[in-house]
Amino acid sequence: MVFAPLAGFFCFMANTILVGAQWGDEGKGKIIDVLTEKADIVVRSQGGANAGHTVRVGDKEYILHLIPSGILRETKVCLIGNGVVINPTSLVGELDGLKQKKISVKGRLFISDKAHLVMPYHSELESCAERLKGRNKIGTTLRGIGPAYGDKIARTGLRMADLVDAKRLEARLRDRVREANRLIKAFGGKSISFKSVYAEYGKAARRLKPFVANTTKMLHEALAAKKEVLFEGAQGTYLDIDQGTYPFVTSSNTTSGGACTGSGMPPNKVDHVMGVIKAYTTRVGSGPFPTEDDAIGDMLHNMGREFGATTGRPRRCGWFDAVATRQAAQVNGIDQLAVTNIDGLDKLAEIRVCTAYRLRGKIIDYVPTISNDIEQVKPIYETFPGWQVDTTKAKIWNDLPPKARKYLKAVSQSVGAKIVIASVGPARNQTIFR
Ligand code: GDP
Ligand code: IMO
Ligand code: MG
Repeated sequence: MVFAPLAGFFCFMANTILVGAQWGDEGKGKIIDVLTEKADIVVRSQGGANAGHTVRVGDKEYILHLIPSGILRETKVCLIGNGVVINPTSLVGELDGLKQKKISVKGRLFISDKAHLVMPYHSELESCAERLKGRNKIGTTLRGIGPAYGDKIARTGLRMADLVDAKRLEARLRDRVREANRLIKAFGGKSISFKSVYAEYGKAARRLKPFVANTTKMLHEALAAKKEVLFEGAQGTYLDIDQGTYPFVTSSNTTSGGACTGSGMPPNKVDHVMGVIKAYTTRVGSGPFPTEDDAIGDMLHNMGREFGATTGRPRRCGWFDAVATRQAAQVNGIDQLAVTNIDGLDKLAEIRVCTAYRLRGKIIDYVPTISNDIEQVKPIYETFPGWQVDTTKAKIWNDLPPKARKYLKAVSQSVGAKIVIASVGPARNQTIFR
């Protein structure tokens, strides 16, 4: 059954890239889940198990790390594209979790044979590097993501195609473990045993082999058959390796271009780019965050909200940053916005939106390149009256209090994209389509 309010909205859905337009955790999982009702195929194209996408279905909550959130709708096909980095043991764990919850993935989950592997030495090297950075650490998820992408770029990585070929795996792994152990030793870390990694990865390989495929070919067959494809971005624009607040970023292209390179999707087949934003802003890990405000953080944490879905760390919180989000709309080509967690602002008497920055006395309307400069910008705020009404039961746009609509209209205008989805709670039916 098609959820009634979706009918009008979906006539213009087509092939859509969904990206986080802030620092991750914008509520992408929830929005992907509602959009998947109409899409045929959901594709992950970058990142790895650093992602944590929460989806609420009825009274059950699912947190997906590597598997596309579309998997929760039982007729949909999900692809893990070539741009994703995969820890096979984590992926098997995730498959087990779905099995326990009686979600069958048979015949509808496919993993690119070109996707690179995250190895135990990646995680160990990352722990060493973070430890050595001390106060300057990035605050990564310690999932081995950076070193795995490092090997990919250095052309020394292992791929899914290697994992599922026992002979290739053995030969390549032996060399790589030897090389990695030299580095680990220099860093003062714990060396890796070839034998135990080979056994662990060999076991995971036997389990994952039936899912490994040429997903680029599958994607093109789907496009030729006029299927609707939804790309599930992970992380967010300001964690992008190129466009983010470098070096406090992740190691992949989290912006819309990454969806193309990470799957084999031609840019001219993309119809829409949807940016997901929270009605305020959050960030996990170190790095600049101009509109950070501990008072909002305390309020949200006291409500039991804003704890990391992957690491459980409390998220840093702040006001909506229209400067950063407008720039995110530009670099991604965002033409549609989904605003989540509007209900998180329900109790506030006043709500602020950052409309410009002041840097060393000068007013600027862009995010500076150097992290030190971003640390120094002073946000210039516009203040809106809070609505102080419970929005969680709103079903249509006009159910939202006028002050909330005014706030959202200002957000939309400052970003330069229209709001097509407003989310007032984690559940599927707490979603307003426009
Ligand atoms: P993602 O990484 O972008 O998928 O986001 P996360 O799942 O890490 O974090 C978003 C959190 O907000 C999750 O706990 C969601 O269940 C929750 N969420 C999403 N939309 C809404 C909303 O509109 N209201 C509330 N209260 N929670 C929401
Ligand atoms: P989703 O998909 C929020 C952050 C980490 C750290 C930085 C680098 O759930 O939105 P990494 O382990 O990737 O090398 O860490 O990026 N980070 C995220 N923050 N949401 C995420 O994913 C994130 N994935 C990585 O906290 O600051
Ligand atoms: Mg998350």
